Amino acid sequence: MFTLALLVASIVVVVSPLPSASVYKLKERIPNPRDWVQLHRAPVDYILPLRIALPQIKFGELERHLYEVSNPGHQRYGAHLSKEEVERLIAPHPESLAVINKWLTSHGLDEKDLQRSPAQDWVTIHVPIGLAEEMLDTKFHTWKHVVHGDVVVGTTSYSLPEDVHAHVELVQPTTYFARPRALRTTLRFTEDTASAAVNKDTSAGRITIPGSEVSVDASCNTTITVACLKELYNAVGFGASSHNGNILGITGYLEQFANFEDLQLFYADQVPAAVNTSFTVSLINGGGNNQSSTEAGAEADLDVQFGLGLTFPTPGIFWSTGGRPPFTPDAITTGDTNEPYLDWLSFVLRQDNVPQTISTSYADDEQTVPESYARRVCAEFAQLGARGSTLLFGSGDGGVGDGNPDPATQNCFANDGTNRTRFIPLFPASCPFITSVGGTVNIPEVAVSFSGGGFSNYFQRPSYQEVAISEYLDSLPDGTYEGLFNRSGRGIPDVAAQADRFRIFLSGRPVSIGGTSAATPTFAGIISLLNSARLSKGLPSLGFINPLLYSDHANTTFNDITVGNNPGCGTKGFNATAGWDPVTGFGTPNFGKLLRIVAP
Ligand SMILES: *[C@@H]1O[C@H](CO)[C@@H](O)[C@H](O)[C@H]1NC(C)=O
Ligand SMILES: *[C@@H]1O[C@H](CO)[C@@H](O)[C@H](O)[C@H]1NC(C)=O
Ligand SMILES: *[C@@H]1O[C@H](CO)[C@@H](O)[C@H](O)[C@H]1NC(C)=O
Ligand SMILES: *[C@@H]1O[C@H](CO)[C@@H](O)[C@H](O)[C@H]1NC(C)=O
Ligand SMILES: *[C@@H]1O[C@H](CO)[C@@H](O)[C@H](O)[C@H]1NC(C)=O
Ligand SMILES: *[C@@H]1O[C@H](CO)[C@@H](O)[C@H](O)[C@H]1NC(C)=O
Ligand SMILES: *[C@@H]1O[C@H](CO)[C@@H](O)[C@H](O)[C@H]1NC(C)=O
Repeated sequence: MFTLALLVASIVVVVSPLPSASVYKLKERIPNPRDWVQLHRAPVDYILPLRIALPQIKFGELERHLYEVSNPGHQRYGAHLSKEEVERLIAPHPESLAVINKWLTSHGLDEKDLQRSPAQDWVTIHVPIGLAEEMLDTKFHTWKHVVHGDVVVGTTSYSLPEDVHAHVELVQPTTYFARPRALRTTLRFTEDTASAAVNKDTSAGRITIPGSEVSVDASCNTTITVACLKELYNAVGFGASSHNGNILGITGYLEQFANFEDLQLFYADQVPAAVNTSFTVSLINGGGNNQSSTEAGAEADLDVQFGLGLTFPTPGIFWSTGGRPPFTPDAITTGDTNEPYLDWLSFVLRQDNVPQTISTSYADDEQTVPESYARRVCAEFAQLGARGSTLLFGSGDGGVGDGNPDPATQNCFANDGTNRTRFIPLFPASCPFITSVGGTVNIPEVAVSFSGGGFSNYFQRPSYQEVAISEYLDSLPDGTYEGLFNRSGRGIPDVAAQADRFRIFLSGRPVSIGGTSAATPTFAGIISLLNSARLSKGLPSLGFINPLLYSDHANTTFNDITVGNNPGCGTKGFNATAGWDPVTGFGTPNFGKLLRIVAP
């Protein structure tokens, strides 16, 4: 009976010639986005690039592969998946494709109007808002940010026909009101325009790190250079290869791009051997790269200068991803999505070869990112991990508070309608398939007070964190911060690195800059050097590295940071402790020790 009923039902679907008046069912509703005010109905002829995500029904299988090839104890360790293998695992069910096609056809769209991802798990259509409103049974408005003044098109809820519901994971841009930011906290102009860091007076002596074989030039306690990081993280003298296929990737969003001349000044200052070498720029979705403008970003300059400086002569690629309005209502052209990650992901996942190490210093408060969107983007990061890339993201610059580094203006109120106070983890740092990087300062190192840390409210604690986080939580006095953080969430960060007083060149001048933005390309640089060693030995790249970092192969190789805390939300935040903690993770890297483990 059951089978028969199903059969009849599916025949009805297949033969039904005309769309019947669809019954719509709510797909997603978000509370009114904080700090945005609704202005007007959006112009009906404004073109929206609507992305429709079809469910990746075999994602569980992809996840199993990911953990097997990333587990140093597994026989498949390092057996990364090919692009085609990953695509087979994320392909939607044929029925989903059929249902979506039928839905799109009923709105006058046919195959030539659609752009599909290689695995067909995304469909993009460029449609006037009037049509999008009909398809999603919603009304789009323009919204203005109360502080920054930018205007976006969005809606707080949308619906789908009942029969389409299960075949769509999400549609964006709709409910995405997040405002990603560069994780750059400090920017100070320095006085010493003349003296090159490489020729600095070293008479100040050296600092020896207790319990460690390394010593560091004393000047590094006030100014961080490439040489300082190599000393501190025990990577002096390692020669990376320029021709073993290893590449370092650096992402740029929000109109950020890196200036070539600033890089040359930086090289002359800190990495003379690299002078006259450069990197590849890849522009995505109208990303900027205006070298004659003084508007090169501090963030991009920092990421490129330290990422490439640490890994020279490893080739580097910088992706400049566009996609932030100002929305101009009279432009009847494709609207910007105001959304950073999907454009980059859809571009990079199409490439046959993806860099082995990728550094991203942008993030947003997890609670401002729609959960469906965060989950899907996180699952897309897992694809890159399965293909052998290590993804590093900054953990944030607001301690346990929101991404706002100024505690006085932090907003620690839940936006789930309750408006209760709680700590605010950042996304993508909260995604369990990436490695999040917190910050330290001084030599010997202590946690830097702005180091983002805490626990996700979206993502459960992954199994690789089970032992480390249980130990940490057990050590907390009973009732600590009850209700302010989610004990079952993924813990942030995984690791840390220096995060302040970095000497870079910006618009031709040396400046001192800081943030987990500085820590992220630093840690990425160390990982990239490890990848270089592995590739030169004919070994596969490290890929998704967290299962290795948390295993007893690696979890005691770090410089464990046990001093400092990360205040926020009117509290003192968490403490850096022995072992893992939600301030600095396991601590900062020791390249030499990691090298012996990953490329013996
Ligand atoms: C490094 O600087 C910090 C902060 O100024 C200071 O507390 C520490 O003693 C310095 N380290 C050394 C070895 O002098
Ligand atoms: C870099 O290139 C410039 C212009 O071609 C040249 O004058 C200079 O000697 C080069 N410097 C190095 C260190 O190769
Ligand atoms: C690049 O920047 C310069 C200086 O700000 C400006 O004059 C020029 O129009 C810009 N070029 C482009 C293509 O945006
Ligand atoms: C949430 O509570 C805080 C503190 O009581 C208040 O300042 C704020 O306006 C509230 N926000 C909303 C959206 O109710
Ligand atoms: C705590 O995190 C879990 C996921 O680990 C989530 O299901 C739950 O909703 C979260 N609780 C709150 C109050 O956010
Ligand atoms: C390292 O991992 C092992 C195995 O899970 C665990 O027993 C040990 O406590 C971990 N060490 C630290 C410092 O977290
Ligand atoms: C941090 O350490 C201080 C001093 O030992 C202690 O009073 C406080 O309770 C600790 N905080 C947490 C969250 O563990």
